[in-house]
Amino acid sequence: MSVVTIARTGEIATVTVDNPPVNALGQALRQGLWDAVAELDADPSVRAVVLICAGRTFIAGADVTEFGKPPVEPHLPDLVARIEAAEKPWVAAIHGSALGGGFEIALGCRFRVALADAQIGLPEVTLGIIPGAGGTVRTPRLCGVATAVEMATTGKPLRAPKALAAGLIDAVIQGDLLEGAVAFARAAIEQPLPLPVSARPIETPDAAFWLDAEKAVAKSAKGAAAPSRVLASIRKAAEAPFADAMNFERETFMELRGTEQAAALRTVFFAERAAPRPAALRDVAALPLKKIAVIGGGTMGAGIISAIRDAGLPVILIERDDDAVARGLANVAKVFDGGVKRGKLTEAQAQALKDGVTGTTDYEALADVDMVIEAVFEEIGVKRAVFAQLGAVCRADAVLATNTSYLDPREIAEALPNPDRFIGLHFFSPANVMKLLEIVPTPDTSPETLATGFALGRLLKKIPVQSGICDGFIGNRILKRYRAAAEGLVRRGVPIARIDAAMRGYGLAMGPFEAQDLGGLDIAFLQREGARAKGQDVAETLGDILVRAGRKGQKTGGGWYDYVAGDRRPQVSAVVAELLRGQVAPETGMTEDEIAAVLVGEMAAEGQAILDEGIAASPADIDLVKIHGYGFPRWRGGPMFASRSRI
Ligand code: 3HC
Ligand code: NAI
Repeated sequence: MSVVTIARTGEIATVTVDNPPVNALGQALRQGLWDAVAELDADPSVRAVVLICAGRTFIAGADVTEFGKPPVEPHLPDLVARIEAAEKPWVAAIHGSALGGGFEIALGCRFRVALADAQIGLPEVTLGIIPGAGGTVRTPRLCGVATAVEMATTGKPLRAPKALAAGLIDAVIQGDLLEGAVAFARAAIEQPLPLPVSARPIETPDAAFWLDAEKAVAKSAKGAAAPSRVLASIRKAAEAPFADAMNFERETFMELRGTEQAAALRTVFFAERAAPRPAALRDVAALPLKKIAVIGGGTMGAGIISAIRDAGLPVILIERDDDAVARGLANVAKVFDGGVKRGKLTEAQAQALKDGVTGTTDYEALADVDMVIEAVFEEIGVKRAVFAQLGAVCRADAVLATNTSYLDPREIAEALPNPDRFIGLHFFSPANVMKLLEIVPTPDTSPETLATGFALGRLLKKIPVQSGICDGFIGNRILKRYRAAAEGLVRRGVPIARIDAAMRGYGLAMGPFEAQDLGGLDIAFLQREGARAKGQDVAETLGDILVRAGRKGQKTGGGWYDYVAGDRRPQVSAVVAELLRGQVAPETGMTEDEIAAVLVGEMAAEGQAILDEGIAASPADIDLVKIHGYGFPRWRGGPMFASRSRI
């Protein structure tokens, strides 16, 4: 079947695009639209054309799978120009998403109308490129330069009502989109037509505007190349004739398309989409998830509950006693109240989210839940006791999950009558924000239980990654090696502050030492002490020396750095230098690039060991873990990608 079909309703023709799954602009679609313009221009009975899409969305953009290959005609900028120059005005009728090339097609149309829940945007920077078919040149002609800069440098889409207010679309359609768009077209052809977008004027902000914008973009891009390039392209649009700006944009697009950053971001894009539906589980039905319980309302429990409420499901919270129930509910309320403060939620929405959580100490309340997620203290005895109770009260098919970070899930499940419905679901803090969900089956976990873990990941809009059982699973195991390697550099005489600066320069939000100061050095210390108490041979770390001296991080006024009260900025510490004297070699001249190469290399080496042991299924899975759980820069593709390609 053709991806483009034409129908006529009197004077208004309808061009329908049907290219599942997301109507991406592959060659066949570009050719189909090209031919449609010619056919409808040649038909004297047609006065206007409505462009509409079948399926879940309007045209979602260029076909990203074509980016690694040479471009094939008709090229997208030519197609947009062809639609814009059509003798009959085209009306883009948008539902779902009009993104990137999809929005550029809409910009070629004389009018744009959209359903209220539709979104439009220029997400190209998230793929390491910039718009390649006029996005940076036409968009500011509709909404002004500042809004275009915001859209294109962040890649964040706008919902239809905001797009309407910004001048990016002409109407929000209530009810049936096709009917509404046809009615819009009928009315529009009775009026004088507006200029095509390319012929409209554009404002020219002064040099100070661009300087400010460049500074802001460089700060937020943290090393990604595309955001500043898209800014330069919008500037060109504001300062040069239309055709010159189009050439400038296209050249930049073609250049960036072939870069390592773009390859990294494309790889991550497809890995993220593959992760929630692993091929091995394609034929396994997940169990329904309608009601979930969480045991423990501390840091993690409250975050997990918030994530489940955000997905619209009711939650039961079980705590140790009534006071703990109240504290747990207050922890959850704090998350939603924070949403109100930041303007993300109304009071009423926050209240409704809170109302969906029932707190109790009574395990009988769990008789009909579909899943239980345990997030109590990290102590094997406490966890085992919890699962013994769960085994007694829950339905035999209810999935029972632990959020343990380091304990062996097999030991936790030992007391369960039917361990096939047991699984590890390892969330990351804050659990309502962080996208990563490590899914840790035991040898007894059934395929249905595993599939239900992934179903939960999809429901909560997480990036689920399966991990085998080992100390720290995928993410924390690599973290441990990374931190040990960073300490190794300190021992070799590399200053702590230079290591942190190197990793920030590499694109992480924080270096390894300032991150430990924020989270607290005591957690890992206690873990090592626990292992030592069990007779394991765990070498004394530099972190141990600091904790023994009372330096647990920001919360104690100092860790690897000193902190002045009320100020989170780390200050190089003479006390630490003194404490570590004798452990540390004289200062070396290692550069920041060399430091980052060593530390990322260590992460990748641990990742390789994890692959060799079958703990992770693919390098892409490891990269997703580091990007979505540990703030590894997305544009570097993750440690495995980066160490292969050396970006
Ligand atoms: N090209 C190729 N395949 C794409 C694609 C694209 N632009 N966008 C999505 N897909 C594929 C996905 O890989 C997935 O494939 P799978 O089913 O085999 O795993 C399938 O389409 C469905 O995608 P999602 O799971 O993401 O579907 P959702 O319904 O959740 O989301 C969406 C729909 C919001 C459109 C989302 O897919 C999306 O954001 N897509 C990317 C949009 C984008 O970045 N467009 C810009 C491209 S660059 C460009 O246009 C350059 C131009 O300026 C020249
Ligand atoms: P926390 O100490 O903040 O919360 C634990 C909660 O469990 C407390 O509210 C406590 O009252 C409750 N609790 C203890 N025993 C209970 C019992 N028998 N029945 C019901 N409730 C009980 O701990 P946190 O940080 O939330 O950690 C919970 C689990 O999540 C641990 O296994 C931890 O390893 C894991 N985890 C923690 C992460 C973090 O960053 N804090 C990240 C990922 C996992």
